[in-house]
Amino acid sequence: MKKERESFSSRLGFILISAGCAIGLGNVYRFPIITGAYGGAFFVLIYILFLILLGIPVMTAELAVGRGSKRSIASSFNVLERPGQKWHLMKYLGIAGNYLLMMFYTTISGWMVLYFWKYLTGSVLAAQTAEEMGAVFGGMVSNTGLVFGATVFVIIVCFGICALGLENGVERITRPMMMLLFVLMIGLAIYACCLPNAAEGLRFYLVPSLNKFESAGWWTVISAAMGQAFFTLSIGIGSIAIFGSYIGKERRLLGESLTIVSLDTLVALMSGLIIFPACFTYNNGVTADAGSVGAGFLFTTLSAIFNEMPAGRIVGTLFFLFMVFASFSTVIAVFENIISFWLELTNLKRAKVALINIVLMIVLSLPCILSLNILADVQIFGKGFMDLEDFIVSNVLLPVGSLLYVLFCTTRRGWGWNNFFKEINTGEKGARFPAWLKPYVSYVLPVIIVIVLVMSVI
Ligand code: ALA
Repeated sequence: MKKERESFSSRLGFILISAGCAIGLGNVYRFPIITGAYGGAFFVLIYILFLILLGIPVMTAELAVGRGSKRSIASSFNVLERPGQKWHLMKYLGIAGNYLLMMFYTTISGWMVLYFWKYLTGSVLAAQTAEEMGAVFGGMVSNTGLVFGATVFVIIVCFGICALGLENGVERITRPMMMLLFVLMIGLAIYACCLPNAAEGLRFYLVPSLNKFESAGWWTVISAAMGQAFFTLSIGIGSIAIFGSYIGKERRLLGESLTIVSLDTLVALMSGLIIFPACFTYNNGVTADAGSVGAGFLFTTLSAIFNEMPAGRIVGTLFFLFMVFASFSTVIAVFENIISFWLELTNLKRAKVALINIVLMIVLSLPCILSLNILADVQIFGKGFMDLEDFIVSNVLLPVGSLLYVLFCTTRRGWGWNNFFKEINTGEKGARFPAWLKPYVSYVLPVIIVIVLVMSVI
C-alpha cells in the first residue's frame, strides 16, 4: 500500500518553516552590510522592488508546482508535464542547487555554532580590536579539525531533526526556533536602538544617500539587489516548492507568498537595526565597505564591538544564538527537500535516507572546509571552492531554475497558464492573483530573469 504523504499540522507551521527556509545568513549579515555599502534606503527600495517584481511571482510559481503535483522537485514535473516533455530533467538542476548550497552553508553555520560557544563560555572576550578578533577568526577557520567538527555537528543535528519526520521533527523543532528567533531579534534591536549613537546609525542605514549609490555604480547596486532577492528567498531550486506539496487547498497561493516574503524582509530590515546603531556607537560608524562584504564582518568588526559593550558577553551570546537559529532554519528546510527527493525516487525509509545523506554531505562539504586552509591556493575561475559554490548557486542555478519554473507555469509547452492560474487561485482565503498580470508573468518576467542571469555571470 502506498504511504500517505505527510503534511503540516497547522498553517503556522507551513508559514514559519517556509519563511525559515528563506530567512538565513543572507538576511542577517549580507543584507545590512550591502545596504550600508550601497546607499542605505536607495538600495532597500530597489531590493524591495525586485522582491515584488521577481520574488513574489517566482515563489508563487514554486508553491503552485509543489501543491499541484503533491511532489518534491524529484517528480513534480513528471506529474504535471504532458507525455514526451522534458521538464522533469529540471530535477537534476534543483537537486544540484540544494546540495551545492549546503556544501558551504553548513560550514558557515558551523562557525556560528563555534562563536555562540565562544561567547557563552566567554573565551573570546579578551580580544578587543577588530584586528585581534580577526586573528581569533583566522585561527578558527584555519583549524581544519575544529571547522570539520562543527560542520559535522550541523549536518548530524539538522538531518537528525529531518529523520524524525515532517511533523515530529522539522515542524516541532523549527516552529519554536523561529518564534525564539523573532523574540531575540526584537530584543536585540530594542537594545541596539537605545545605544547612545543609535540615531546616527539609523540615519546612515535608512536615509537615502545618492552619493554612495552613484559612487558604487548604479548597475553594481541594481545587480546586487537582484542577486540578494534570489538568494534570500532560496527560489528556483525547489526548496520552497516542497512546502507547497505539504499543504492543502484552503488558501490561495499569492497570499502565502506575500506572508513568507514579508517575514523574510522584516528579518532583513531588523538585522540592520541591530548592526548599524552598534557600529556607530562603538566603532565610529565603520561597518564594511562594498569590497569586503562577507561573513568575516560578524566575526571581526561586530564581535570586537560586542567585546567593548558593558553587557557584551550576553549580547554576543544572544546574537550568535540568533544566527544559529537563522542558519539552522535554512539548513533543516533544504535537508527536508533533499530527503523528500530521495524518498520519492527510492524505496528507502526516512531514517536511512538521512543516514546516507549525513555521510554524503560530510564528504561534499570537504572542498569548502579545506579551501580555507590546506586548499587555500586552489582557484577555479579565480575563486576558491567556497566562493565558487556560492557563485554557481546564487548567480546561475537560482536564476536558471526560477526562469524554468516561470516558463513551465506560463507556456503551453509546459503546465500552461490556465492550470497554473487555477492552482494559485484555488482556496477561499488569501490574496487573489489578478488575471491582468498574465502578460507580465509570461513575457516580461522571463526577460528580467534572463537579464539578471547574463549580467550576473558577466
Ligand atoms: N535563503 C537563505 C538565506 O538567506 C539561503 O540565507
